[in-house]
Amino acid sequence: MIVVQSTQKLFDWRNQISQNSKIGFVPTMGGLHSGHLSLIKKCLLGSDLSVVSLFLNPKQFSETEDLKTYPSNFLEDLKTLKELNVDVVFAPLENEIYADDDYFSVVENKISLLLEGNSRPSFFPGVLTVVSKLFNIIRPHNAYFGKKDAQQLLLIKQLVRHMKYPINVVECDTVREEGGLAMSSRNNYLTKEDRSLAKIIYLSLLEAKKTLSSGEHRCVLIKNHVTSILKNEKKITLDYISIANVHTLEEFVDIVDDDALISIAVLVSGVRLIDNVFFKKQ
Ligand code: PAJ
Repeated sequence: MIVVQSTQKLFDWRNQISQNSKIGFVPTMGGLHSGHLSLIKKCLLGSDLSVVSLFLNPKQFSETEDLKTYPSNFLEDLKTLKELNVDVVFAPLENEIYADDDYFSVVENKISLLLEGNSRPSFFPGVLTVVSKLFNIIRPHNAYFGKKDAQQLLLIKQLVRHMKYPINVVECDTVREEGGLAMSSRNNYLTKEDRSLAKIIYLSLLEAKKTLSSGEHRCVLIKNHVTSILKNEKKITLDYISIANVHTLEEFVDIVDDDALISIAVLVSGVRLIDNVFFKKQ
């Protein structure tokens, strides 16, 4: 495994490998957990050469968010990646990605304004900008993203499609802790007790899906049901519950009459967590 910190060195590596090698790429912000590892294992299986990036991207955090305390452990991550037999770790220094005179940003003006984008306006421009740069530097054939961040995944697919990246985006299932809580770097902020009660997030999503599957398609009713489940937990504050069209993320108004993404953002003792499930209309 080689660890590369400069863009030039990555270009050099990229230029000297065989033209026929299929390159798989997993972008991460470090603090690796089993969710990340499932993407990396899929990447290893599907590619000749694997690249994992570790870059805590400052551009996708607002001033009030947790950039400074974000749980990451570079040496631990390197050890994990070496054990997995990853070929290249790209861990750029911040000025390799954002030079002082760089005022560029990749902005999407529709889907990125909804849900997470509504609650965190700088998030998606930050994500799309860094992922574009990483795609340009690494030029992978396959790139792996988690359904845990369903809106991010959808926007990356749009980015690839509209900005004409010759990259195949591979969707990876959400990995959960025992009890159902979606794995997330931010779970590290939770006390044992909060971690245990946070499983209600996934359970409430399953409840919504079950209600839809039973033939009850009235949006308000389902959302009220989820809200009332979460209300029982004093330490949980709901940011949003959304039932939206999977392709456009537009909210269903009265009746859920197409495939839906049911997604939730909550604060558990002040820690922001997101999760989602997909509902396929029969
Ligand atoms: P990060 O939160 O580190 O996540 C990296 C990748 O792991 C993303 O594709 C995310 O969806 C996936 N992932 C996280 N938790 C998961 C889980 N429980 N199950 C399956 N996949 C999971 O997402 C980012 O970083 C950044 O926004 C990034 C794309 C790297 C750009 O900075």
